[in-house]
Amino acid sequence: MNNTILHINSVSKSFSHSIKKLNGDVSKEEYCVLDKIDLQVQKGKITAIIGSNGAGKTTLFNIVSGLLNTDKGELFYTPNGKKYNLRKISPYKLARIGIGRMFQDNHIFPKLTVMENMLIADTDPYGENAFTSFFYHRKKRKIEKERKLRAEQIFEMLFGKANPFCEKQEDYAETLSYGQQRLLGLARLFMGNYKLVLLDEPTAGVNPVLVKKIAEIIRKMVDKRQMTILLIEHNMPFVESLADLCVFINTGKIETAGSVVEVLDNPHVRENYLGKRTTKRNSTDAQA
Ligand SMILES: Nc1ncnc2c1ncn2[C@@H]1O[C@H](COP(=O)(O)OP(=O)(O)O)[C@@H](O)[C@H]1O
Ligand SMILES: [Mg+2]
Repeated sequence: MNNTILHINSVSKSFSHSIKKLNGDVSKEEYCVLDKIDLQVQKGKITAIIGSNGAGKTTLFNIVSGLLNTDKGELFYTPNGKKYNLRKISPYKLARIGIGRMFQDNHIFPKLTVMENMLIADTDPYGENAFTSFFYHRKKRKIEKERKLRAEQIFEMLFGKANPFCEKQEDYAETLSYGQQRLLGLARLFMGNYKLVLLDEPTAGVNPVLVKKIAEIIRKMVDKRQMTILLIEHNMPFVESLADLCVFINTGKIETAGSVVEVLDNPHVRENYLGKRTTKRNSTDAQA
């Protein structure tokens, strides 16, 4: 219990849509996207959520990050001994309590500069209450300078001394390559004091070199910043190399959960998602 940072207790969600028949009648159909999801996310671990398109994975992230309400169920977030009921917290406050997210497609703000993208990811609320805003003007410049320095240090820690992000920090983020935009989306998460990070398909559409870099960055999130990662992924070698735990969602239900090996070798997961294994696990290692 103590090691759990996110408690998802029997969460269900349905959507409804209207169907117009040929005779003009309209009927409403309700369909269940998440069915009594129970998941206890372990602190400091990387948990991968796998499953086919439409299984309900992103909907689960939308519920955790407050963009959607649940129909039933509870969500509690428990970093450092505190307990937050996520159903009662506005989405814009989530960053303040340490929950960060990278979306499936929109990773950055293209019309902000590279540096601005970093600065707005800062979770520090300085200047937003009466006391701190009183001193804010005087301190503003100093704080901005410190934040920029912090962003540059993050770029250096992740990408080395001569990196395109420090060089292009005043350029619009849209001028970066697609892969660089993805890396910037991840680098932003080091700006705040995030404890739980939700990553929705971070490797989608990127080349193998970049996939390796993304894996390195996620490892640093855990090792250097003690973040807990909840990761939606279709790239199975990536999941195998990185995740500690794995959850298989099929048509809105968690059908299998456990270690990555257990889940990926599960006959039901193979039949319903991965397909038949045609080589033995680690057969390439054995040949090497
Ligand atoms: N806001 C919404 N309104 C109606 N249906 C939705 C909404 N969001 C998702 N869905 C539907 O819920 C199902 C699960 O979607 P999603 O969670 O995005 O799947 P996944 O991320 O696993 O591919 C899909 O059938 C999708 O069309
Ligand atoms: Mg999705």
